Amino acid sequence: MQTLAVDIGGSGIKVIALNELGEATTERSRVETPNPAKPAPILTEIVSLAAKQGGFDRVSVGFPGVVMDGIITTAVNLDPEWIGLDLAAVLSERLGKPVRVANDADIQGLGTIEGKGVELVLTLGTGFGSALFVEGKLVPNLEMGHHPFRKGETYEEQLGRAALDDVGKKKWNERLEKAIATLEHLFNCDYIYLGGGNTKKITFDLPQNVKIVPNLNGLLGGIALWRD
Ligand code: BGC
Repeated sequence: MQTLAVDIGGSGIKVIALNELGEATTERSRVETPNPAKPAPILTEIVSLAAKQGGFDRVSVGFPGVVMDGIITTAVNLDPEWIGLDLAAVLSERLGKPVRVANDADIQGLGTIEGKGVELVLTLGTGFGSALFVEGKLVPNLEMGHHPFRKGETYEEQLGRAALDDVGKKKWNERLEKAIATLEHLFNCDYIYLGGGNTKKITFDLPQNVKIVPNLNGLLGGIALWRD
């Protein structure tokens, strides 16, 4: 039983195949996210990436927005055309396999957590993703990124890719340090995990319960969608 794991991101689309244990059995492949990031060109990219991954029986997709029962309800960093789309149904028809879809940060978390206590996962990429787990159980679709953080701006406005490009690494690091302290006060987490491509830009010493985790977890976590 092979699972094709797909991660739709604001800057790249990634795929890998996983065995029943959730271990990668192929090399990860990636293409740039088409611009404009509308459903049709992205679905076409996924279908062609899938064709190069060998056989698979089912598909897990991480999507950078709120997903409810396979239907996209927000897509801040893609295109508004996604809203209302039943991505699970549409992709399943294109690939001829069952498809399950979840929020990208939720999947990153599912591929990361230990399942003990309160664990918060933050992803630092194009957007600002968040996922909260209590004793291994997910609180789905936590949208911390669009919650007010400071100076009238949200976490994503202060810490997303556009902000990093705009204010530079030094300021972005100062902001991130403040965000971690704020969220630590709010959730009193046992662990905070940081994922996403921009973790490479972190320059300060993280508190002892905060860990950087591999970006690959955003694909590996896809296996959890099939654990009934
Ligand atoms: C979206 C989240 C997503 C995050 C990371 C945010 O803009 O609202 O749902 O997890 O970006 O992609």
